Amino acid sequence: MRIGVLTGGGDCPGLNAVIRAVVRKGIEAHGWEVIGFRNGWRGPIEGLTKQLGLDEVEEILTRGGTILGSSRTNPYKEEGGVEKIRAVLAQHKIDALVAIGGEDTLGVAKRLTDDGIPVVGVPKTIDNDLGSTDYTFGFDTAVHIATEALDRLRTTAESHHRALVVEVMGRHAGWIALHSGIAGGANVILVPEREFNVEKVVEWTQRRFERQYAPIIVVAEGAMPEGGAESLHNGEKDAFGHVRLGGIGQWLAEEIAERTGKESRAVVLGHVQRGGTPTAYDRVLATRFGLHAVDAIHDGDFGVMVALKGTDIVRVKLSEATAELKTVPAERLQEAEVFFG
Ligand code: F6P
Repeated sequence: MRIGVLTGGGDCPGLNAVIRAVVRKGIEAHGWEVIGFRNGWRGPIEGLTKQLGLDEVEEILTRGGTILGSSRTNPYKEEGGVEKIRAVLAQHKIDALVAIGGEDTLGVAKRLTDDGIPVVGVPKTIDNDLGSTDYTFGFDTAVHIATEALDRLRTTAESHHRALVVEVMGRHAGWIALHSGIAGGANVILVPEREFNVEKVVEWTQRRFERQYAPIIVVAEGAMPEGGAESLHNGEKDAFGHVRLGGIGQWLAEEIAERTGKESRAVVLGHVQRGGTPTAYDRVLATRFGLHAVDAIHDGDFGVMVALKGTDIVRVKLSEATAELKTVPAERLQEAEVFFG
């Protein structure tokens, strides 16, 4: 048997751990051949391959990024994209594909399965917003990085009696903001799921200043003020129709400075949250996902995504997993509110 593996969408710590697990189990438990496709769905469209043997996956467990490269290519937006994939898979005698990705990559995986191409999905995203799985790998690492940043920013903010607004990733879901904000003792946490009232944020910030502390405000890039809109980096859209976000942190820092008369600075954590070595938790989760993806292929169970439920790895239909994003529920935000101000 010959299987293909690819990584699509934004990269994320732990991708290499999945690739390693797929290759190790595929070869050692089943005697399969594993072929990597480079640069997301671009690989199987254009036949960009990389043979993956045991040597190729040595020492990649701890490495961030993906040895296969990634892209936000959408085969359904390319002329003859799906037919090209079918031809490339036939040419390389690929029996099944492991697609490691977020909502977009797995949305394509679902459609390809419907079109007769056997795919098993592995969920990845630092945003932790994929439905049907308790956690995605990459999230824990991103939260650690953001929390460490908050710890560092707090001491400099306090020295200068400034407010610090920290913009973290999270287009539609505020999981990174919520978890890093709680772990880092933020005074305000703003998420895309709930529009915020600027006056209230200023009031919380002011209250913190009055108690001689430096306020730390964590804001997800997709958060919006009441009646406002998302802050866009520019108007351009990718192949899945997503715009690039950015700017809410700076905007809020300026509002706070103007309304409180205190100094305020914005820090955008950006891709720092996605880079570097994965945490132990993410390495274990990614490895288990890879092993279970191989099991699904061995069982001939296609059109599924491996998922974490409690401490178990289960399989869910890709159609179910990609139906709805997992956003932060109101009660989770409410829990954190006792620390606001
Ligand atoms: O999908 C994960 C994510 O990290 C989002 O939170 C963010 O909006 C996006 O990727 C940015 O990705 P890029 O700059 O690679 O397009």
